[in-house]
Amino acid sequence: MIRLRRMTKQIPSGDGSTPPLALYIHFPWCVRKCPYCDFNSHAPRGGEIPADAWAAAVVADLEAALPQIRGRCVHSVFIGGGTPSLLPAPVLEKLLDALRARLLLAPEAEITLEANPGTADAARFGACRDADVNRLSLGVQSFDDGMLARIGRIHDGDGARRAVEDALSRFARVNVDLMYGLPGQTLAMALADVETALAFGVGHLSCYHLTLEPGTPFARNPPVLPGDDAAADMQDAIEARLADAGFGHYEVSAFARAGQECQHNLNYWTFGDYLGLGPGAHGKLTVSGGVVREVRHRHPARYLEGAARGDFVQARRMVGAAELPFEFLMNALRLPDGVSWGLFRERTGLSPDVMADGLAEARARGLLDASPDRLRATARGQRFLNDLLQIFLPE
Ligand SMILES: C[S@@+](CC[C@H](N)C(=O)[O-])C[C@H]1O[C@@H](n2cnc3c(N)ncnc32)[C@H](O)[C@@H]1O
Ligand code: SF4
Repeated sequence: MIRLRRMTKQIPSGDGSTPPLALYIHFPWCVRKCPYCDFNSHAPRGGEIPADAWAAAVVADLEAALPQIRGRCVHSVFIGGGTPSLLPAPVLEKLLDALRARLLLAPEAEITLEANPGTADAARFGACRDADVNRLSLGVQSFDDGMLARIGRIHDGDGARRAVEDALSRFARVNVDLMYGLPGQTLAMALADVETALAFGVGHLSCYHLTLEPGTPFARNPPVLPGDDAAADMQDAIEARLADAGFGHYEVSAFARAGQECQHNLNYWTFGDYLGLGPGAHGKLTVSGGVVREVRHRHPARYLEGAARGDFVQARRMVGAAELPFEFLMNALRLPDGVSWGLFRERTGLSPDVMADGLAEARARGLLDASPDRLRATARGQRFLNDLLQIFLPE
């Protein structure tokens, strides 16, 4: 049984009538597609990334979306991908200037950029910092040369170590993504990766269990992976080691030293609002008291081609009251500490009574905490999160 360290998590607060607002920007290109990845990421055709055209389209996309967020303060920006560390420094700088000129960016706003160690060097990180990026998220996956080759990464262990060192020398807030349950991986190998990250003094780790995503080369030709029990042992051992090292386990896959939690992701998990710009980006916005979800055109060429006519949004719909409890729970139950019932009321405008039957069933099955103050999964509910959420699926 794993002991979870309590953490003092700061839940972003809004302006009273709307939840806090974040901005996500999707950069859809990578040097090469990894065989396990089903993110909206593509190797560029002919090797050329149209970075200028992408940035201009994102700014035009923002301008078209501004009426929906007028007067609201943006608390965090996350430039994700894909591999946004491929962005030339002048383009990144120009993009962030353009955002600042059009948005009310909180002075202490967290600005994160995702980086692949194979595209990162000290000069590039310096340029990111000069452009006011204040948090870096590094897709390390493993520090083991053989493993990195097996999962098709463009960097080796030395490259990963160099990138972590360079990132920490320039940023006070650095996340390292690791994956476990990798082909041929043993418990000792998974722990060695965590140990290496800890030795560098990283303050935030995201540890993901490798999943075989439909349509990927790994799903078509599965490598030999550790079995479910072996992967569960890795998860337990990683959680125990990080608890020992003083990390809070504040979301299913996220671990942080106090104060290093990712504010942007916490906003998702506490059902805050976010505007999503760039190919395939998703958004969730509170508009006139209702929740609107939208998604941008997914294919980069389609998104760029639509920019000429201001056509960015592929689909937009109002979320019905019947769907809101499930949508809220899908996010909030990822937090081992859960959230207050007050937050449920505030973010959905509903009373918990609307899901009284589901709550009773989830508690009877030992999946949901019985506390009158907090909405929280039990340890069993965290382990069987899908079973717990299924109870609340809208009809
Ligand atoms: C969108 S990627 C961005 C990082 C960057 N593109 C890179 O890979 O260096 C975010 C993270 O998702 C994780 N990830 C991607 N595909 C996964 C899969 N099939 N199973 C588990 N984790 C995955 C990886 O740890 C990756 O670093
Ligand atoms: S570099 Fe990251 S986003 Fe790109 S294909 Fe690999 S895992 Fe996916």
